[in-house]
Amino acid sequence: MIKISDQCVEKLKKWFFSYVETFKHGNNVLTENTILKENHTIRVCNEIEDIGKSLDLNSNKLRLAEITALFHDIGRFEQYARYQTFVDSKSENHALLSVKILENKGILNGFDETLKNLIFRIIKYHNRATLPEKENETCLFFSKLLRDADKLDIWKVVINYYHEKNSRRNSALELDLPDTAGFSNEVYQDLMDKQIVDIRHVKSLNDFKLLQVGWIFDINFDATLNAVRSRHYLEMIQAVLPETKKIQEIFHMIQTYLSEKINEEKFRQKKQNEN
Ligand SMILES: [Fe+2]
Repeated sequence: MIKISDQCVEKLKKWFFSYVETFKHGNNVLTENTILKENHTIRVCNEIEDIGKSLDLNSNKLRLAEITALFHDIGRFEQYARYQTFVDSKSENHALLSVKILENKGILNGFDETLKNLIFRIIKYHNRATLPEKENETCLFFSKLLRDADKLDIWKVVINYYHEKNSRRNSALELDLPDTAGFSNEVYQDLMDKQIVDIRHVKSLNDFKLLQVGWIFDINFDATLNAVRSRHYLEMIQAVLPETKKIQEIFHMIQTYLSEKINEEKFRQKKQNEN
């Protein structure tokens, strides 16, 4: 793989922060939402580094991972400035917008074409329901890293938000969904089938919370699963859902799934160490 220097990453980070700064001089709502996504980006960079280190990635691969994390949501700032929403269906696909902005600004032009294209594809895939089948191993691996790191931080952000007392509603985080009682049976069915929830089945805020629970089926690395468990993300989402039998059923199944996945991985690693 092509070498990426430490100075290069530092230069890109500098550019990122100066670019983001330009969105902080509009109205308060724009500034507030700009800071929200800026902080999200910083944390996703840290998460990806932690997951990468747990996999013993070399420093060159860690730098590539960090660049994808740094730029994965670069389109979010323009998206909010232009459309006053983070809802892609009401504006445009923010992952594609991120790539467009990187292309227009030419910020990765110093990179070799293959590397630049690889970074663009990883960013493009980060918000897809599933990864494309026709992709090379490297691209799929780094896409998985980014998707895991991104999910870890989105869980953190939404859980804090759901648990904030007397919080005002922030439609930027809720897709403008009605906060009605109950949840959709189709969402329940998706989860019980161990499937990620189909966005078309999401009709209410509770459905959306359940969709976020279902991300567990799309987690790729052991370090991410362990983080979900040690940070009690699932329990904290359950606490803000109705206490019905069906909800208990979902969480029982999900917790069992999580434990099994973690044990499987421990077993696999033990075997590997023995050999
Ligand atoms: Fe994103």
